[in-house]
Amino acid sequence: MRESEIKEILSILEGEPNLIYFIYGSINSGKSTLIREIITNKLDKSKYIPFFIDFRTRNVLNVDNFIECLFEVDEKSKVDDFREYAKSLADLLVNGSEELSKYYLGAPIRIPKSLFDKIFAKKDKSGDVYQYMEYLFAKLNEKGKIPILIFDVLENFVFQNLCRSAPKNLQMIKELTLNGNRLLLWSLFQFLVALTKVQHLCHVFCLSSDSLFIEYVYNTGELEGRAKYILIEDFDKETSLKFMDFLAKELLKSELSKEQKELIYSYVGGKPIDIIYTINEMKYRKLEDILNEMLNDSIQKLDMLLNKLDYITPKISIENEIIEIKKEDVVNALKLFKTKYEIDKKAISTPVYIYLIKENILFLNPQKGILKPQSYLVWNAIKEIV
Ligand SMILES: Nc1ncnc2c1ncn2[C@@H]1O[C@H](COP(=O)(O)OP(=O)(O)O)[C@@H](O)[C@H]1O
Ligand SMILES: [Mg+2]
Repeated sequence: MRESEIKEILSILEGEPNLIYFIYGSINSGKSTLIREIITNKLDKSKYIPFFIDFRTRNVLNVDNFIECLFEVDEKSKVDDFREYAKSLADLLVNGSEELSKYYLGAPIRIPKSLFDKIFAKKDKSGDVYQYMEYLFAKLNEKGKIPILIFDVLENFVFQNLCRSAPKNLQMIKELTLNGNRLLLWSLFQFLVALTKVQHLCHVFCLSSDSLFIEYVYNTGELEGRAKYILIEDFDKETSLKFMDFLAKELLKSELSKEQKELIYSYVGGKPIDIIYTINEMKYRKLEDILNEMLNDSIQKLDMLLNKLDYITPKISIENEIIEIKKEDVVNALKLFKTKYEIDKKAISTPVYIYLIKENILFLNPQKGILKPQSYLVWNAIKEIV
């Protein structure tokens, strides 16, 4: 599974750090799994030290939240000087201690309590943060180790006005914070450019399922020549069928017929999580029932969304213009998918596709300008309903 993607990322790691890599793809396409598989099982552990910054479980509303995600505070340390601390941490990691094995399971950067407190007491926090990280990475480089910095679900960091998509529960947050976060994001990007393009100190991977966020980063041009984008899609058909064979053996201790596999693929496509669910459920239930229930679920969700449009009018803001989304336009946009899985984004007006992406119905590939349903299940629901 994912041999070519693993090869691509390993070959990036073999080269000198030079670019920020954005790893993007629809929800549950397997981005985090891929990166964790590489860290845990594919890396030359004598050479690389990964630092895993996990934003998955929280929304980053401000610089404080951001810093809390970046670091794990060493409460016990009495060291005051951050350089001294970074040196001893680097030594610890280089000597392959227990500490090192923690990072292979995915841990953020350790920081002494004194520095952490000092940072929190300041108004301008990011300067010290970046200085500490840079110093630590430089020390690791001196000792022949290459750090890998991974941000999982970077978009949890950003909001509506920035990338036109935000979790609904965040819409109360004031303009001010939004602008603050925008500055914070770009200061982070500048720092990441300094670490890669300028100093070649560490590899950087930013994972994201939010195609509007990726579109925003891709189109603003500020990272042009400094970033690259790697799309992790759902499995292709051949891989999906192989994955089913593997799972049937593992979970069911039996084999699936060609017809069964084709049937599963026609319902759930190459979304790994849906394939796993289906085959696991086959322990207890009939395949047709499982698939119909999954499809029905997806239909209900889409149906509810469309029904809601009968009595509320969602609004999308683009460059301070507020645009109302009409049901008719949404339905007409979805109709384009009745016969096709992929559509040129120009075929759908920007506010409508933004709305459908925010509602997790569509996914945008900003590099190719192509829209497609978030999953086969969503696609099948569209075909049933509109
Ligand atoms: N290559 C894979 N092999 C086995 N299972 C996978 C693979 N990729 C994804 N999965 C399954 O799909 C689920 C969602 O994948 P994840 O990596 O969390 O998606 P993403 O980070 O892209 O949203 C995982 O929990 C895992 O069970
Ligand atoms: Mg993920």
